[in-house]
Amino acid sequence: MPGVTVILREGEAVAVEAEIGVSMMEAIRNAGIDEVVALCGGSCSCATCHVFVEEGAEALPEMGADEADMLECSLYRQPNSRLSCQLPVTAATAGLVVRIAPEE
Ligand code: FES
Repeated sequence: MPGVTVILREGEAVAVEAEIGVSMMEAIRNAGIDEVVALCGGSCSCATCHVFVEEGAEALPEMGADEADMLECSLYRQPNSRLSCQLPVTAATAGLVVRIAPEE
């Protein structure tokens, strides 16, 4: 299970053992972190799973058009913004660091 780091809104860094095959959104929620609401359940239509990728972006797939469209609507979009439901956990994502975006 690749280890990833999730930085909470208040700045606490939490080490998470993520299961290969789930999305980063699911890994965060499976770890008991409730700051990612994931209203749409991971279908790329709510943006409540918004994170900032602080380290390890090279291990992630390119952003798709749907994800980019959803992020366009976010008040907090940054160059490193991603929707965590669109980020698959793989062996290559070990060491990934994501910061949970502010609540919209
Ligand atoms: S959970 Fe809704 S866009 Fe990711």
